[in-house]
Amino acid sequence: MNVLILGSGGREHALAWKISQSKELDKLFCMSGNPGTASIATNLSGDTKYFAQIETQIRSNNINMLVVGPEVPLVDGIRDYFGAVMPELMVIGPDKKGAALEGSKDFAKEFMIRHNIPTARYKSFTSDTIHDAYRFLGTLKPPYVLKADGLAAGKGVVITDDLKDAERELSEMFEGKFDDAGHKVVIEEFLSGIELSVFILTDGVHYMILPEAKDYKRIGEHDTGLNTGGMGSVSPVPFADKSFMGKVEERIIKPTIAGLRSEGIDYCGFIFIGLMNCGGDPYVIEYNVRMGDPETESVMRRIDSDLLCHLAAAAKGELDKETIRISSSSAVTVVAVSGGYPEHYIKGFQISGLPDCSKYSDTKSLPVVFHAGTAMKDGKTVTSGGRVLAVTAMGDNIFEAGESAYKALSEINFENIYYRKDITDDLKSLCK
Ligand code: AMP
Ligand code: GLY
Repeated sequence: MNVLILGSGGREHALAWKISQSKELDKLFCMSGNPGTASIATNLSGDTKYFAQIETQIRSNNINMLVVGPEVPLVDGIRDYFGAVMPELMVIGPDKKGAALEGSKDFAKEFMIRHNIPTARYKSFTSDTIHDAYRFLGTLKPPYVLKADGLAAGKGVVITDDLKDAERELSEMFEGKFDDAGHKVVIEEFLSGIELSVFILTDGVHYMILPEAKDYKRIGEHDTGLNTGGMGSVSPVPFADKSFMGKVEERIIKPTIAGLRSEGIDYCGFIFIGLMNCGGDPYVIEYNVRMGDPETESVMRRIDSDLLCHLAAAAKGELDKETIRISSSSAVTVVAVSGGYPEHYIKGFQISGLPDCSKYSDTKSLPVVFHAGTAMKDGKTVTSGGRVLAVTAMGDNIFEAGESAYKALSEINFENIYYRKDITDDLKSLCK
């Protein structure tokens, strides 16, 4: 089978790393990939926005399966496009209707209410109903949670303790702070608890639960400072025991799949459910219609079975014939970023100490460096983004895995390198 992975971050390198080990794989391509994927796949040039360009590459390289990494092409209807022009192509990712679970917070909330899926109490407003929105805010206790309805590159959620701040944010969203994404705003109750990310692969009828993970979103240690795309991840999550995951499956996963079916949404792909554990009960914070980054880096390392076989079965509606095998080892990912990220940072610094990624495919336990914001310049690997690379290590428990990730990271350097040193620290008290 020839496979194309769309995207160019750490998530896509991790997917490529896993798929490259499949016995079913003939040729692997990434568009546009990064220097990390270049060592295990063929990087194709092209803009993921232009589906016709992707189609040309798919036809000329005899590609059988398209795995869509990021959400934007899904929300823009890439599955619908290929369903019309190349129905024989296996596409991993939902159609436009299914992608609305991530593309519209309001749609996702209504979906959860329709299907009795536990989530925070909420209401949606537009600029026409701003006074109702102010009144609703007044009925809530702080912190106030405001969410731009549409995609806002992970920046569309504002949480503040101050009512005046919340009112100001609300009017700024309606005035276009997040462009069109904020024309509608969801205001919801604050859920207090510990977050985790649950991932499923589904063919629309059957589903497979992948290893769960927890990510670290804030730039500063002990979850302080600005939100980022993700500074690290761990899998498994200590509190996600059999009893908790049983509740997730019964109260959230099963009604989500049944809800999609009952609404005529033919969903084939990943669903990433962002959950809050509120006193032992799971509540949905959000749905994403793709894998998470940097969760994928940890999740892929814990899957022992052949992911490409699972994906092909999902595309054929035969996921019930597959069984996932999950490693009992733990995985920890630490992300190294350019100093200044998520605000202003300088690119173009040479990265030293990188191991040779092409040797990774036969390793089970060594740390792996997944590339994200890297580029090649004059034969050298340089920084080219905020999140530069992600180091994922394995261990008998998350603390050993964390130590190993930090040891591997200490060999790597570039000017202004920054990474959080506290990934896993918050989980120590839960593991006593
Ligand atoms: P989202 O983009 O929906 O994932 O929201 C970004 C982050 O905001 C989440 O990962 C949570 O940490 C936080 N968040 C979102 N909604 C809530 C909520 N209702 N209560 C508490 N925290 C929330
Ligand atoms: N790590 C969070 C995300 O991928 O959305």
